[in-house]
Amino acid sequence: MSKVTLKDKTFRVHIPASDINKAVGEVAHRINIELKDKKPLFLAVLNGSFMFASDLLKKVTIDCEISFVKVSSYHGTSTTGSVKSLIGLNEDIKGRTIVIVEDIVDTGLTMEKVLKELEVMEPAEVRICTLLYKPEAFRKKFDLDYVAIVVPNDFLVGYGLDYDGLGRNLPDIYVLDN
Ligand code: IMP
Repeated sequence: MSKVTLKDKTFRVHIPASDINKAVGEVAHRINIELKDKKPLFLAVLNGSFMFASDLLKKVTIDCEISFVKVSSYHGTSTTGSVKSLIGLNEDIKGRTIVIVEDIVDTGLTMEKVLKELEVMEPAEVRICTLLYKPEAFRKKFDLDYVAIVVPNDFLVGYGLDYDGLGRNLPDIYVLDN
């Protein structure tokens, strides 16, 4: 499928599944070398990372654990409006090597929030692993340890990413077709 229509918008293939598979393999290879003997705990951030996490972890061959968390957005009473909080983490992460698995780092706001919430739980180290990274949109200071694919500042769907809830199941990554 070179084009798909989701609701009112049409998208064209931007990154085919074969390229995604190759990039995921390269990240897994680095993790297998760099985190050997660290028994990392992968924290996959739902919903967007489900496909990436599944493919990545199939290629990770070192001893590891995986758990799934969510960033809930709700409107608090503060003047900043939207407040985000990390939910679903039941493990004790004190002293552990954590790898956050995300679908995309855009402005970096979500990841910054996740990092802050994890830090108070005193992990030994936290590494960030993201399938996609939009450097033109990124507004934060932290480093990204594992980036599979760098993308331009365009709206993308597929391979876990959605447009209004649709498109997460697509095996390729699509971009808005103008
Ligand atoms: P950030 O907080 O600006 O870095 O945005 C992170 C979240 O926004 C991601 O986890 C996605 O859910 C969503 N997002 C950012 N860019 C895109 C995109 O191009 N397509 C679909 N979702 C996106």
